Amino acid sequence: MTAPASPPRARRVHPALLCAALPLLAWDCTREAPVVAAAPAQDEARVTLRLSGSLEGRLEPCGCASGQVGGLARRSFRLQQDRGRYDVLIEGGDLVGGGTLLDELKLMTMLAVFDDKRAPYDALGVGPRDLQLDTGVFADLAAGYPQLRFVASDLVAVAGPGTREWPALPFAEWSAGDKTVRVACLARALPTARAADAPHFELLEPAAAWQRAMDGAAPTTFRVLLAHGAADLARPLARLAPLPDLIVAVGDAVEPPHDPEFVDGVPLVQPGVRGRYLLDVTLARRDGKPQIVRYAPIALEGSRTSKTALADQDVAAQILAHRHEVKSEDARGKLANRLPTANGAEYVGDAKCVSCHYAAGKAHEASKHALAWRTLEAAEATGRYAWPVTWYPDCIACHTVGYGERSGFSSPEATPDLRGVGCEACHGAGSRHSADPPAIRLGKVGSLRCTQCHDYEQSPDFDWNARWKLIEHGK
Ligand code: HEC
Ligand code: HEC
Ligand code: HEC
Ligand code: HEC
Repeated sequence: MTAPASPPRARRVHPALLCAALPLLAWDCTREAPVVAAAPAQDEARVTLRLSGSLEGRLEPCGCASGQVGGLARRSFRLQQDRGRYDVLIEGGDLVGGGTLLDELKLMTMLAVFDDKRAPYDALGVGPRDLQLDTGVFADLAAGYPQLRFVASDLVAVAGPGTREWPALPFAEWSAGDKTVRVACLARALPTARAADAPHFELLEPAAAWQRAMDGAAPTTFRVLLAHGAADLARPLARLAPLPDLIVAVGDAVEPPHDPEFVDGVPLVQPGVRGRYLLDVTLARRDGKPQIVRYAPIALEGSRTSKTALADQDVAAQILAHRHEVKSEDARGKLANRLPTANGAEYVGDAKCVSCHYAAGKAHEASKHALAWRTLEAAEATGRYAWPVTWYPDCIACHTVGYGERSGFSSPEATPDLRGVGCEACHGAGSRHSADPPAIRLGKVGSLRCTQCHDYEQSPDFDWNARWKLIEHGK
């Protein structure tokens, strides 16, 4: 689970942050957000989109820090509030973070939520992370929701197990009155670090995928391109023919930039990652050129005063059911011991290390890292969470040693010495070093190791100098 230490900060105050200062108005004030371009002539069609993308399995924020934004229950609440204020609802894809049993269980939950008649989705992109799921499993789950239209313009299924029912279409189209929107998605065409092999597909180049998707579209149709990959790779797509009216670069920027960008006159927006924001975008066209009439990132914030105030309770109940299912399926056990350790050694637990490194042991014992598992237990037992967090793989990953790796944490009973953020969570698996310290060294721990757990969600204000002082040990 790696992520940048902190999001690229917008230089100006984000309207959503102003909203945060006014909790009671939180869901109202982005509506007064600044208009980006002059309104077009009255006779031109406009269309308002609600965009999101790269949920990456975040059904809800983890709650490790206060004021976290995002989550499906808040999203649903907001979408229902705003029903009638937007025309087309588009989720960009990368719904899940990988291809494990947990990702499957999350996808089941998400699809049930997206199928909600109170805020129906018009298009769902497919992203490279979604392709890490077994194609047959993805197809089976999607088959349960025929109304949800998945789009992957660059993937042509070839014969193989699971591909016969491959649910993604080259495009999805939405129409009402004089407005038509057609949505294409590049799932794999741009090279991304996360690209999984996609053996069951023929992969089309961006230009070919786009032409396939826009084939037969009326000239007045608004052409929207979802592109998975870095914004740098998405910018050249502004030269595609026919001209896109909007490029949505999915999965790169952590937060939506303060303003939309224009590449050769074509607008490019980024909805941010982990489902923390929705983007409100009104498109128009003047003299054949795309225009953005309105642009506002909407931070999905909670209420300061009540846990339930700004969240849809049906969706919250679906998420809770998912968490209990994760426990009853023993996803915790099934996700343990899958991967090799980074240095090839095995985990041995703190006691072994402390037998030689007494002073470091003392410092560690006094730090909150030593208590990180107990924190989860306490959270589970109290009203703070009141759901089985000690069984939920996402929580365990940062509150134990080596979860997911061979010889790492698997359960509090089987691996009691690996509860909490022990020595080896930072220094790496220590069996070889312990057996022959002078010969096998563990190497330096950089601040990047810290920010794998202390990232912009868990520790928004993480500062190495200040935090290291609190746990300092060694020379
Ligand atoms: C494997 C995940 C993980 C890694 C790696 C990690 N931490 Fe932590 N850290 C945690 C967790 C979880 C907590 C909260 C523990 C609790 O309160 O139960 C925490 C808490 C802390 C605290 C206590 C915060 C406070 O306010 O007292 C400090 C300080 C800290 N970490 C510093 C660091 C530094 C410095 C690094 C890198 C050298 C680091 N951490 C690496 C997971 C991690
Ligand atoms: C990416 C790593 C990561 C994940 C995933 C994670 N945590 Fe944490 N958690 C942390 C870190 C780091 C801290 C310490 C934050 C700090 O002090 O800055 C922390 C702190 C906490 C705290 C103490 C906060 C406080 O105010 O005392 C609780 C409770 C907690 N996490 C619960 C959870 C639960 C429940 C989950 C799963 C839903 C979870 N965590 C998932 C890294 C993580
Ligand atoms: C048998 C005693 C012994 C055990 C067990 C042991 N160490 Fe060491 N460790 C040493 C010695 C001795 C050194 C110094 C090596 C040198 O400088 O030649 C050292 C060095 C280190 C260093 C400095 C960096 C390096 O690679 O030299 C770190 C970090 C470290 N140990 C962490 C650990 C951790 C974590 C564990 C538990 C997994 C552990 N040690 C277990 C004896 C031990
Ligand atoms: C939160 C991350 C973290 C945890 C947990 C942690 N350490 Fe460290 N440790 C560091 C960092 C960072 C340094 C200083 C930079 C370096 O030497 O890599 C360090 C330094 C050391 C050193 C001195 C290395 C040297 O070159 O002098 C030893 C020995 C050591 N740690 C042992 C331990 C032992 C034993 C434990 C468990 C009881 C432990 N550490 C727990 C992050 C951690």
